Amino acid sequence: SEPLIIAIDGPAASGKGTLSRRLASFYGLRHLDTGTLYRGVAWIMLRDGFEPRDEAAAVKVARAFDPEILGSADLRTPAVGRSASLVAVHEGVRKALFDFQRSFGLQKPGAVLDGRDIGTVIFPDATVKFFITASPEERAQRRYLELRASDEGVTYEGTLAELKRRDERDQSREEAPLKPAAEAEIIDTSKLTPDEVMARAVRIIDNVV
Ligand code: C5P
Repeated sequence: SEPLIIAIDGPAASGKGTLSRRLASFYGLRHLDTGTLYRGVAWIMLRDGFEPRDEAAAVKVARAFDPEILGSADLRTPAVGRSASLVAVHEGVRKALFDFQRSFGLQKPGAVLDGRDIGTVIFPDATVKFFITASPEERAQRRYLELRASDEGVTYEGTLAELKRRDERDQSREEAPLKPAAEAEIIDTSKLTPDEVMARAVRIIDNVV
């Protein structure tokens, strides 16, 4: 049988990460948070003193990418997230990360991949596609509460502004812009609990497989 591929796209702090982890565990699939690939490239660029806008350097780093970095580096910081969205605009970077994502998904029994372009570019042939979204204010509030635990200087307004900048960059870039795939099931999580999001997604998947 074909591997089961669940493609999950959406903006930052939409709840796609939580849903992806839960779906992977529920269906016994592997999970890849593809944002960590772009974060990994950005982290190496920052460490080695390169500007994320330096396309030639970014492509070189992406081609030499070692997934080992994913477990060992601090990829979750806002600075790395911002740089990730800057390196992610480069076509050569996206090409260099393409095969890794395809082969990850194609191993049996299949996988949940979450990111910005999974249903549109990486797995246009996915079994099921979701676009998980929420209002910018709701997403900023979630991200703010998360960041506040470790950073006392963080503000809601600053978090909201940064999130809108990142949305804008991800949606307007030439290569693989963030948008729902034509066949994607759209779930707005603004007024839903994680359990409710999970229940909706499972209902949709069970209708397809
Ligand atoms: O989801 P996360 O915040 O970790 O993603 C960081 C950045 O990586 C995003 O803002 C986006 O620019 C980029 N990204 C991407 N394509 C993906 C996943 C992430 O361009 N599939």
